This record gives sequence, C-alpha cells and structure tokens, in this order.
Amino acid sequence: MELLNLLFVRFTREKQTVNDLVELDSFRDKKVLVTGGLGFIGSNLTIKLVELGARVTLLDAMIKGHGGNLFNIKTVKDRVSINLWRCQR
Ligand SMILES: NC(=O)c1ccc[n+]([C@@H]2O[C@H](COP(=O)([O-])OP(=O)(O)OC[C@H]3O[C@@H](n4cnc5c(N)ncnc54)[C@H](O)[C@@H]3O)[C@@H](O)[C@H]2O)c1
Repeated sequence: MELLNLLFVRFTREKQTVNDLVELDSFRDKKVLVTGGLGFIGSNLTIKLVELGARVTLLDAMIKGHGGNLFNIKTVKDRVSINLWRCQR
C-alpha cells in the first residue's frame, strides 16, 4: 500500500502518468487492497488498478463527512470486491 501511495503522490505532484511510473503489466492479476477505496483518492486509484488488470478489494468505513460514495467507482463496480462497514463516529 505504501508503494501505491508513493506512486499516487508522484503522479499528482509531477503530473506524470501512472504508466510512466509502473510497467503496464506489473499489477496484472495482483491482489490489491485499497483502504478508503470509495473516497476521492482511493476510487481513482482503484479505477486505474482495475485498468491495469489488478484484482482489487476495497475496504471503506463510510465515515460521515468523508467523501466515500459507491458512485465514485461506478465504472468498475462489477470488477472489484467491496468490503464496507459502518463506522459509529
Ligand atoms: N477534485 C475533486 O473533485 C475532489 C473531490 C473530493 C475530494 N477532493 C480532495 O481530495 C482530498 C481528499 O481525498 P481522500 O480520498 O483523502 O478523502 P475522502 O474523504 O474522499 O476519502 C476517504 C475515504 O476513506 C474512508 N476511511 C477513512 N478512515 C477509514 C478507516 N479507518 N478505514 C476504512 N476507511 C476509512 C472514508 O470513509 C472515505 O470513503 C482532499 O484534498 C479533497 O479536497 C477533490
């Protein structure tokens, strides 16, 4: 996960494409867990990982006031596993 965060930071700060940073096949068939996967960063990361062929599981606590929403992953929702639990906060 730290590697993915690092890649995303480089992607956003240096305006490089993800494809510049990783070999196209490096995530193919890899199991990847994305925490906060229904939020802004997690959902965009998820969509890219699915495009790269990863088998993505999303974990999201759906905390009130955060940006988590199933709508964010609508283009890939049938190609990911989703694990939600309701946070009491
Ligand atoms: N450009 C845009 O359209 C846009 C839209 C939304 C947000 N943003 C920006 O993006 C940044 C925020 O994005 P983000 O992805 O960090 O936040 P986010 O709130 O969008 O997503 C965080 C997700 O993590 C989940 N989460 C939090 N704690 C958790 C835990 N312990 N376990 C599991 N899930 C947990 C939340 O429920 C939420 O779904 C901000 O800078 C904001 O301004 C931009």
